[in-house]
Amino acid sequence: MSTDSSGERRRVTIRDLLEMKKRGERIVVLTAYDVLFARIVDEAGTDVILVGDSLAQVVLGLDSTLPVTLDDMIHHGRAVRRGVQRGLLVVDMPFMTFQVSPEETLRNAGRIMKETGAEAVKLEGGDEQAAAHVARLVRAGIPVMGHIGLTPQSVHALGGFRVQGREEVHAERLRQEALRLQDAGAFSVVLELVPGRLAGEISRSLEIPTIGIGAGADCDGQVLVLPDMLGLNEQFKPKFLKRFAELAAVARQGVGDYVSAVRDGSYPGPEHTFE
Ligand code: KIV
Repeated sequence: MSTDSSGERRRVTIRDLLEMKKRGERIVVLTAYDVLFARIVDEAGTDVILVGDSLAQVVLGLDSTLPVTLDDMIHHGRAVRRGVQRGLLVVDMPFMTFQVSPEETLRNAGRIMKETGAEAVKLEGGDEQAAAHVARLVRAGIPVMGHIGLTPQSVHALGGFRVQGREEVHAERLRQEALRLQDAGAFSVVLELVPGRLAGEISRSLEIPTIGIGAGADCDGQVLVLPDMLGLNEQFKPKFLKRFAELAAVARQGVGDYVSAVRDGSYPGPEHTFE
């Protein structure tokens, strides 16, 4: 946990994450999209809170992350900011906000930083162009988290949501991408749906921390999508996911009890009524 010299809890910084990797301490990352869950996630001691563009699927009910806009991300980023006191806040750059030109990438990342109060942005991809965008943002003072492996914004090009890097040629590409992002100045890199052995190898080859999702136990940290791990997104059951709660069942029970109580007249009772 990050503390200042008087032992007080203070905000996590990207330096803390690099130190955690050196000490072999695991980094805990979760997504959040609104203030109430952001507060719960932050108070539980999560090191990095990510406003992911998974917002598209788990909040907006869309089929992929592609339609999510910069304004959507900023709107939710601002809400999450109000609930996060300690964790490092990272906001995803959505599809086509960082691919078009270096100028547009910088302008869009700048909007995220200014309008949400986030400490960093995340963007997908590890080819030379993505690395050049990362380098440009880092030069402008914007910390960047990379994201390689299954990059959901490229789902159509990748041919679906499937494990990446199983063949040696693809594994080698991922090793190169991770190093390229590190050289470009990224402070961390997400490895999504990558075989565990390869993810471990990449993690050991880097000085910056790797954050795995569906990438086994040998990454420096782990991230999950909050509604998935809390059992709110009941249909989604990939192999890598562990549910740490069954909130959909709890919510269904609570709402059902309310419906019955209003119908049978037991709510509101005298104790809920003003004299
Ligand atoms: O959008 C998201 O939630 C993400 C995480 C799965 C890493 O990118």
